[in-house]
Amino acid sequence: MLKVNNLTKKFFPGTPNELTAVDDLDLEMTDGDFLTVIGSNGAGKTTFLNLIAGTMTPTRGRIFLDGQEVTQVPEYECAELVGRVFQEPGRGTASGMTVAQNLVLALNKGHKSLRIGVNRERREFFKEELGKLGLGLENRLDEKVVHLSGGQRQALAVLMATLTMPKILLLDEHTASLDPKNAKKILEVTKKLVSEKELTTIMVTHDMNQAIDLGNRLIMLHRGSMICDVEDGQKEELTVDKLIELFSEKDIVDDELLLTTRQ
Ligand SMILES: Nc1ncnc2c1ncn2[C@@H]1O[C@H](COP(=O)(O)OP(=O)(O)OP(=O)(O)O)[C@@H](O)[C@H]1O
Ligand SMILES: [Mg+2]
Repeated sequence: MLKVNNLTKKFFPGTPNELTAVDDLDLEMTDGDFLTVIGSNGAGKTTFLNLIAGTMTPTRGRIFLDGQEVTQVPEYECAELVGRVFQEPGRGTASGMTVAQNLVLALNKGHKSLRIGVNRERREFFKEELGKLGLGLENRLDEKVVHLSGGQRQALAVLMATLTMPKILLLDEHTASLDPKNAKKILEVTKKLVSEKELTTIMVTHDMNQAIDLGNRLIMLHRGSMICDVEDGQKEELTVDKLIELFSEKDIVDDELLLTTRQ
């Protein structure tokens, strides 16, 4: 499904400020894998997702999605293949448009012109999909998104990102700006949509418990490198204490990281 080889991203290359944000990463995911990614601030997690989504081009290395090389493919051309949800609910939805119009945008993703409009049949489809969120949004199709709460808006963003069955779903701390109750709800929605649609998923989180609870594989990034890869089969036995033990084995002295593990 997703394969990255020697993936490297340097900012300001060849200057005194050169910074290697992603450092020679190799990773292979199979269809339906759900990978959680942890690491301290600045570890390279968002940059890694930016490279996969085509938001940034790598300095070195190659990226394959479903057998197709996408290393140099720009974001707008990758849009049909990649679903993405960000930390801020506002980034995944258009606030001045209605719920139905937002879902139409999601259906038209990756196309320059709006090929698809809202018709009766699509309204029924949208209602059915919104019903899966369990938030009553199926009755608010014509309401502007600006009137929704942060949690409702993020649930809509997750639905929009998954509506067209992307080859890969990228979640970047998508519950981090929500209160615990809403974060829990969004995680439930995520789990439900991912398993129902059998999506291959990468979820970045600072929450060790989330990283352990969700998915079948966990990696840890540190200064752009993968320092820990807990694969399918071993992940079920993982606990926060075991993770902390793994970090100390790697000699990571990083107060910030340890702080995030204790949240
Ligand atoms: N567009 C950019 N230009 C220059 N440097 C950047 C850019 N984007 C990221 N960086 C740097 O690359 C490093 C990795 O950043 P990145 O955003 O990938 O970290 P992260 O693991 O997502 O951190 P956080 O947990 O804080 O979100 C950081 O040192 C950051 O300052
Ligand atoms: Mg980030």
